[in-house]
Amino acid sequence: MTEPDIKKGLAGVVVDYTAVSKVNPETNSLLYRGYPVQELAATQPFEAVAYLLWHGELPTDVQLAQLRATERAYRHLPADVRAAIDLVPIDAHPMDEVRTAVSLIGARDLAGTGSVLDVSGSEEENLARSVRLFAMLPAIVAYGQRRRRGLQPVAPRDDLDYAANFLWMTFDETADDVVVDAFNRSMILYAEHSFNASTFTARVVTSTLSDLYSAVVAAIGALKGPLHGGANEAVLHIFDEIGTAENVGPWLDQALAEKRKIMGFGHRVYKRGDSRVPTMKAALDTLVEHYDRPDVAALYDTLESEFVSRKGIYPNLDYPSGPAYNLIGFDTLTFTPLFVAARVTGWTAHIMEQLASNALIRPLSEYNGPDERHIEGYVPDA
Ligand code: ACO
Repeated sequence: MTEPDIKKGLAGVVVDYTAVSKVNPETNSLLYRGYPVQELAATQPFEAVAYLLWHGELPTDVQLAQLRATERAYRHLPADVRAAIDLVPIDAHPMDEVRTAVSLIGARDLAGTGSVLDVSGSEEENLARSVRLFAMLPAIVAYGQRRRRGLQPVAPRDDLDYAANFLWMTFDETADDVVVDAFNRSMILYAEHSFNASTFTARVVTSTLSDLYSAVVAAIGALKGPLHGGANEAVLHIFDEIGTAENVGPWLDQALAEKRKIMGFGHRVYKRGDSRVPTMKAALDTLVEHYDRPDVAALYDTLESEFVSRKGIYPNLDYPSGPAYNLIGFDTLTFTPLFVAARVTGWTAHIMEQLASNALIRPLSEYNGPDERHIEGYVPDA
């Protein structure tokens, strides 16, 4: 019998076309709808990139103004969503809060739909659902952090764009431009990355003709894991463990002896460095300067150079974004929810793409369990 050609973890398997983004590990490039992500991060507000991912083109001034008007209209934390978040134990992981909130938003929006045959929605309906989630997630994430700190939610401000308002709702103060810019760049860099685990999860759920909210809830579950989105939180746990740059050598000796994975390093697709890292590292550098924290840069650089020289494994986006979010003032547990707020744009673009030319995603497996056996005493019906 020939051995089946099993692609564990679907590594190297091309499962479909996508026009949303292109990851090219050979040239170390990442294009959203054809545009290099570095150019988008340097020139665009996150709202414009969200529009690009959904529609395939950057918005005109009028289109951007329309999207911003809708986004502003849905920025408030609805009372029932706040109540649902409050039901989540205060010491549960914030990703559980976000998942619960999105689930409730979906149930409320689809109430009265009736049959499962009607839930997948038209492109127009799904676009509206995508914009609403995009608009509501900052309030959900900001409220989560404030709730854990025993603080009341902060009402959004109509005079601020997405990134500045997100920071306002989290910290109850107007952020400096340099901080808003770094945060905006991080949102853009996190927005989309082809068939990563969470996006593929969203596409699998969508392929059954389930609804957009169910697909996003499932994607949030996939993103929570430390091998995926949870790594940005895990990077800060590692930074806290190490403490200062001087401790990196001995800490790394022990971690590698224990065969620990060093979070924020390595990537399934990029093997010679993540295309998004230089842009996020530059944003981190501006924050280090702004907050006058050379100690953070020293720890970052020392761990990177020691780990790369010992293992030849390079940082991924979570490595610079973790300390950047820490400097901005986000609690470590809030980092992965920030990833959700960004990646919901990519997920929903993929959900709409999947629906536009759907095929049920249903791979095969090779059985390696016990041979056929029978219940003792069982007599089949005549
Ligand atoms: N630390 C230590 N060793 C590592 C790391 C790491 N971060 N990454 C890979 N390796 C080693 C593995 O131990 C393995 O070694 P072995 O062959 O001796 O067993 C080898 O490199 C291959 O690693 P795999 O995990 O099999 O490679 P894969 O392509 O499946 O993994 C992954 C990619 C999961 C991202 C991995 O590099 C990892 O676990 N990194 C840490 C978690 C992380 O940072 N995730 C964020 C991903 S990017 C994002 O979501 C934005």
